[in-house]
Amino acid sequence: MWKGRFQTETSNLVQRYGESISYDWRLYAYDIEGSIAHAAALADAGIINKTEERAIAKGLREIKSEIESNEFRFRTSLEDIHMNIESALTEKIGAPGAKLHTARSRNDQVALDTRLYCRAESQAIFNRLVAMQDSLLTLSVNHPEAVVPGYTHLQRGQPVLFAHHLLAYVETLERDKERVRDGYKRINVMPLGSGALAGSTIPLNRALVAEKLGFPAITQNSMDAVSDRDYIAELLFTISMVGIHLSRLSEDVILWASAEFGFIELSDAHTTGSSLMPQKKNPDVAELTRGKTGRLIGNLTSLLTTIKGLPMTYNRDLQEDKEPLFDSIDQIKLALDVFTEMMKAAKVREDRTANATSDPFLLATDLADYLVLHKVPFRDAHEIIGKLTAYSIQENRGFPDLSLEEFQQFSPAFEPDVFRVLDVKTALKARKAIGAPSPANVNRQISRWQKRIASTKPLS
Ligand code: ARG
Repeated sequence: MWKGRFQTETSNLVQRYGESISYDWRLYAYDIEGSIAHAAALADAGIINKTEERAIAKGLREIKSEIESNEFRFRTSLEDIHMNIESALTEKIGAPGAKLHTARSRNDQVALDTRLYCRAESQAIFNRLVAMQDSLLTLSVNHPEAVVPGYTHLQRGQPVLFAHHLLAYVETLERDKERVRDGYKRINVMPLGSGALAGSTIPLNRALVAEKLGFPAITQNSMDAVSDRDYIAELLFTISMVGIHLSRLSEDVILWASAEFGFIELSDAHTTGSSLMPQKKNPDVAELTRGKTGRLIGNLTSLLTTIKGLPMTYNRDLQEDKEPLFDSIDQIKLALDVFTEMMKAAKVREDRTANATSDPFLLATDLADYLVLHKVPFRDAHEIIGKLTAYSIQENRGFPDLSLEEFQQFSPAFEPDVFRVLDVKTALKARKAIGAPSPANVNRQISRWQKRIASTKPLS
C-alpha cells in the first residue's frame, strides 16, 4: 500500500509484529458499512461517478459474504482488516476500488470502525443487563416471603426479605445500564473525514456520511478524532463495573450454595463435580466470574496505560486498543448470559432461610428500638440490649425464652408487649421508610422494576 517510497520489502518479523488482521478481521462488517457510506460521499463530491459507486458497493457486499462463508483469504502481509478489504476490492473491480481510499486514512477509518463496533456491542450488553435484572426479579417473585439474615462484616445483622437482597443487585445493574446509555452518546459521533490527522483538501460531505451510518453527531476536531479512544476506555470501565457487580453477586452465590448457608441450590446444569470427591457440587460459574473480573479490570488498565503517554495524534500504540476491547466485550456478554440462566434456574431453600432467620439475636436492634419508643435514650437502650444479649448467651436461652421479669431486670421500661417485637414478620413490617425492606415496600419495588423493564427503550 505504501510501496512508492520504499525499496525493500517489510521484514517478515515486522509483519508478524505489526499485523492486526488476526483479531481486527472481526470489524469487517463495520469496515464495509463505513466504506459504502464513504463511497457515497465520494460520488456526492464528484470524485467517482454513480457507476463506480455502485461497483464499489457491490464488490464490498460480495467480500462481506465471502468472509461470512469462510471463502475469504486474510493476508498477514496486508496488515489489517482495512487493507485486506481494500486490496480484495481492487482485485475484484479494478480502478474504482483504487479510488475508494481518497480523502480517507486508516486513522479515521479505524476510529469509525471501532465506534460502529462499540455502538452495536453497547446495545448488546445493555440488553443482557436487562435480562439479568429480569432473572433476579423472577427469583424474587417466586419467593416473595423468603426471609434471610442481612449481613454486615459477614456477621448476621438484621432480617430482610430475600427479594430485598436480590433487588439490591437489580439497583447496581440499573446504574450499569445508565453508564452504558451515557457512554453511548460519546461513542455515537462520526469521525470519518478527519483523514490522517488534518482532514483532506478534498472536502467531503461529512453530514451525508453521518446520516447514512446513523450518527447524530460529527467529530469537530480532526486531530482529536483520530487519537480519541476515551469512548473505549469508558466502555471498558463500564464493563469492569458490571464485572465487579457480578463478582460480588458471585461471592454471595458461593456462600449461599455452601452447606453452611444452604440458602440456594444451583441446578446441576450450572455446577460442576469434582474428579476426586464424589459428593461435590461446585459453583464454578460464580467462581469463574469472580476470576474473570480481574481480567476485565486488567483490560481497562491496559488501555489507560497505552493512552497515557501519547502525543497528539494517531500513534501506532493505539492498535493495542482492540484486543482488550474485544476480550472484555466477549467475556462480559458470556458472563451475563450464563449468570442470567443460572439465577433463573436456582432454587431457594426456604427451610434453610427460615432456620437462619430464627436466630433471635437478629432482632436485638428491634428490641433497642422498642426501648427508644418507651422513652429510653438510644445509647442507653443499646447498652441494655447488649447486656441482655450477653445474659441470653450465658443462659443459653434466646430472647423469646426469657421471662418478662428477666427482661425487667435490665430495664423497667420493658412491658408485656415486648414479646410482640420478637417476631420476624413484625420486624419486617415495621421497616417501612423509603428503601427499607417491609414486604409492602418490596412488592412495590418489584412492580416498579417489572414496569421499568417492560418499557425499556433502545439506546440512542
Ligand atoms: N491497524 C491499525 C490500528 O488498529 C489501523 C490504523 C493504522 N494506521 C497507521 N497509520 N498505521 O490502529
